Amino acid sequence: MEILLVTLHLVVFAAAELTFIKDTYQNPNSKEPFRHMIKDKATGLIYVAGVNRIIQLNENFTVLQSISTGPRLDDINCFPHELNLCKTKKMTDSYSKALMIDDRGKRLIACSSLFQGSCKKYHLSDITKFDNDSSKNKYVVANNATASTVAFIAPGPAEDGKLAQPNVMYVGTTYTTSGYKFIRDDIPAFCTRNINTLDIAYKGDFVKSSKFVEGTHRHTFLVNYIYGFSSDSFSYMATVQRKSTSSEKYISKLIRVCQNDERLYSYTEVELVCKHNGAKYNLLQAARIAKPGKLQSTHSTEALDDTAVCIYQLETIKSKFIENVKNCFNGTARIGPDHIVDRTQCQKAEGFIEQITLDYCRELDFNYPIDGEHPIIASAALTLKTKVSAITVAVTHDYTIAFIGTQNGHILKVAIESQELAHMYEDLVIENGARIHEDMVFDMAEKYLFTITDKKVKYLRSV
Ligand SMILES: *[C@@H]1O[C@H](CO)[C@@H](O)[C@H](O)[C@H]1NC(C)=O
Ligand SMILES: *[C@@H]1O[C@H](CO)[C@@H](O)[C@H](O)[C@H]1NC(C)=O
Ligand SMILES: *[C@@H]1O[C@H](CO)[C@@H](O)[C@H](O)[C@H]1NC(C)=O
Ligand SMILES: *[C@@H]1O[C@H](CO)[C@@H](O)[C@H](O)[C@H]1NC(C)=O
Repeated sequence: MEILLVTLHLVVFAAAELTFIKDTYQNPNSKEPFRHMIKDKATGLIYVAGVNRIIQLNENFTVLQSISTGPRLDDINCFPHELNLCKTKKMTDSYSKALMIDDRGKRLIACSSLFQGSCKKYHLSDITKFDNDSSKNKYVVANNATASTVAFIAPGPAEDGKLAQPNVMYVGTTYTTSGYKFIRDDIPAFCTRNINTLDIAYKGDFVKSSKFVEGTHRHTFLVNYIYGFSSDSFSYMATVQRKSTSSEKYISKLIRVCQNDERLYSYTEVELVCKHNGAKYNLLQAARIAKPGKLQSTHSTEALDDTAVCIYQLETIKSKFIENVKNCFNGTARIGPDHIVDRTQCQKAEGFIEQITLDYCRELDFNYPIDGEHPIIASAALTLKTKVSAITVAVTHDYTIAFIGTQNGHILKVAIESQELAHMYEDLVIENGARIHEDMVFDMAEKYLFTITDKKVKYLRSV
């Protein structure tokens, strides 16, 4: 660690582009900007989705397949199953909203703004083939170009009598006012979906595996989903949203559910705070989880052009969630947040909190959801005088390097010394002025990093 520190001061900033960029794939169509990227961990193949297109690349940067996903005859005010009756249908662009790999089913699940925000399952080995089943008729994601969606695949509840947990899809979507209200009102803010049918995973008579923004707040309380991840039998979503329905202040939050909880009784929200010199950087910009149990994230504020980098230990995150859950079961905290349910006092469960351990899932069917009052706080490890759009982390034998993508086309290499100390040691210009999109992936050997902008996929040396 010390050796790294010394060399940092010797490194010359802003290296010449040629020395670190190994290869570039130029988007042949400027009307089809790239947006999302994912790697199949089994084969190393990279899938890039943007407006109207998905491409498949190998690690040698050869485009193996390229398929058109739009434009298609569609209209935001029509039902996809009645398009033949739709008078307003027209060629409509397909904006990529989410990209996932179902490694058990060997499918690339690509969701777009078309057809009220539906998904298609492409064969991983041949994306010209897709499943023509009922899953493609489900409305899953945001149906316009800009509203946020975060979706990922992780273990879900075990079915009755079975120990193995099948995978489910966790989806967070911003409510849109685009198109029919009663279609949008049927799309949860947060839910789990069956990976095969893409239906809501659990639909009981009174509870479902979904959470909605309460009707009167749906149009005004927009939740911006930033990042989702699974860790230690919990699934998390990181968001930016107003502090409450009566507040104008924005905060960042982590939403958490336990993976073995089909009814989402464990749904809990806790504020995520990133501080520097007493100031709160309240707007989460990007986040990524790294192997040794840490969440790395970048935050900005409404007022400043700079960014704070915060590192949260997952153990701290877990213990804060449990502290908030305990505070509810001992009657001191509240049910909430108020955009989902009325805020009411939690009921005290006598003698129960002793049973709540760090890995506690959920046993009681009251006191849910929980709006935690005690935030998860970190002090910034570093501040940067730029606006950031992406972060990822490489962990080698004895050091951790964060790659931070900026909104103006740079990649900043940052050595993370500890949770509260990090140094930027290299500033690489990838594409001047272009936003580095949040999906950055390493090749199989973790020697190279793939990044995307609207116009380019770049393959650069990471070590
Ligand atoms: C990539 O290129 C290397 C060296 O030319 C070759 O050995 C390897 O088989 C190639 N891999 C793929 C997936 O084409
Ligand atoms: C998909 O299935 C439907 C109904 O089964 C059929 O009408 C349609 O032609 C199929 N589409 C493709 C591309 O196979
Ligand atoms: C998409 O939906 C978001 C969230 O409701 C809204 O703010 C935005 O204006 C919509 N965009 C378009 C192009 O309609
Ligand atoms: C509830 O638990 C929290 C800590 O978990 C503690 O600070 C608080 O005093 C407890 N309240 C009651 C009423 O037991």
